[in-house]
Amino acid sequence: HTIDWNPAMAEKSGYTHFMLKEIFEQPQAILNTFRSRIDPEHGQLCLPELGLSDRDIKGIGRIVLLACGSSWHAALVAKYWLEQWVGIPVEVDIASEFRYRRLLLDKNVLVIPITQSGETADTLAGTRLALKSGAKVVAICNVLGSTITREVHGTLYTHAGPEIGVASTKAFTCQLVALFLLTLYLAQVRGTMASRERLTMIESLVELPVVLERELPGWQEEMERLAEEFVKSRDFLFLARGENFPIALEGALKLKEISYIHAEGYAAGEMKHGPIALIDRDMPVLALVPQNGVYDKVVANVEEVKARHGRLILLGSRGDANIGRIADHVVYLPVILPDLNPILYTVPLQLLAYQVARLRGCDVDQPRNLAKSVTVE
Ligand code: AGP
Repeated sequence: HTIDWNPAMAEKSGYTHFMLKEIFEQPQAILNTFRSRIDPEHGQLCLPELGLSDRDIKGIGRIVLLACGSSWHAALVAKYWLEQWVGIPVEVDIASEFRYRRLLLDKNVLVIPITQSGETADTLAGTRLALKSGAKVVAICNVLGSTITREVHGTLYTHAGPEIGVASTKAFTCQLVALFLLTLYLAQVRGTMASRERLTMIESLVELPVVLERELPGWQEEMERLAEEFVKSRDFLFLARGENFPIALEGALKLKEISYIHAEGYAAGEMKHGPIALIDRDMPVLALVPQNGVYDKVVANVEEVKARHGRLILLGSRGDANIGRIADHVVYLPVILPDLNPILYTVPLQLLAYQVARLRGCDVDQPRNLAKSVTVE
C-alpha cells in the first residue's frame, strides 16, 4: 500500500503506516539481530554483552523471565526453547504480578527482563527488585541507553531499529531471535546441545530472513482478502499448542489493540474447558497447525470447532492436503525448523491485524488509549 509521495511519507518510506513498514522491515531487522553474534561456519555463538562468565552460566539453577504485553509473549516462547535445549527450569511472569509477589531469588537465578522500550514501569520495578535479591539480571532491549540497560548486569540488544507503531511487530520477532540466540549460547556453554544440532539450528535461523522476504508479499495479499471477510467480526479466537501457543496470544493482542475487535488467544487443548461454548456460525477461529509433534491434537481441536459451525482459518504447512479438508480458509507457510515456527507464524498474524484495522478505519499506528511505552503503572 503505497500512496502519492509527500514529505510526511518520508519517514514511512512510502508505506501507508509505520506498522506496515516495520512488518516489512523484519527480514532485515532479524538479520541485524543475529548477524554479529553467530559464526555460521563453526556453529559458534558469541554473546559477550551478557556480562556473564562461563562460570556464571554453568552456575545458573533457574531462569526467571519477566515482561509485559507482547514482550511477555516472547518470554512464553523462550520457556519452551530454554527448557528443551538448556535443561534449566524457567518461570515466566507478567512484570506487574512479579513485582508484588514474594520473590524467591538468589545468586544462582538468572532474571531476564524483556522490554522493547527499556522504560516500562512494571518491568523496571521488577528488575530493581531482582537486582536487590542478588540474582544476575540480563535485559533484552531494543533501545540503546534506555533506563533498564543502565541498571542491569548485561543487555542483549535487539537490533530492530526504532519501532514507531504502537503495536510491536519487528521488535517482537527480534526479541524472539535474541531469545533463540541466548538459548543456543547457554546450551553451547553448558554443553547441553551437540554442535551438529546447534549448527543445524543456526543454519535455519540464517535462512529465516530469506524465507520471510520471499513470503511477505503473498501473505500481504492473502491477509487483505481474509480481512475483507472478517472486518465486521465482533469476536475472534486464536488457538495453538506448544511453542506456538504464545503466538496465538500475540495474534489476538495484535488484532484487539489496533482493530478493537475482542480477540482471545487460547491453548488449543483448553477448548473443552470453556471456550468451545463460544463457537457458533459467527465466531471466527484461527488456529496455527504446523506439522509438528502436536499436529494431530490441534487438528482434533479444530475439527470440534468445525463440527459446531465455527468459521475456521488455519495457518499450516505448505503441502499439507489434510487441513484444506477442514478449514474455510487456509494460509500455507513454508516448512522450516519447528523451533522457529513462532517467529514465522507471527508475521501473517501481524498482517491480518493490520489489514482488518485499516479496513475498519482505525488509527493503526496510534490506537486509541494506548502508548508506545507504559512508563506509569
Ligand atoms: C504490543 O503490541 C504492545 N505495544 C505492548 O503490549 C508492549 O509489548 C508492552 O507494553 C511492553 O512494552 P515494552 O516491550 O517496551 O516493555
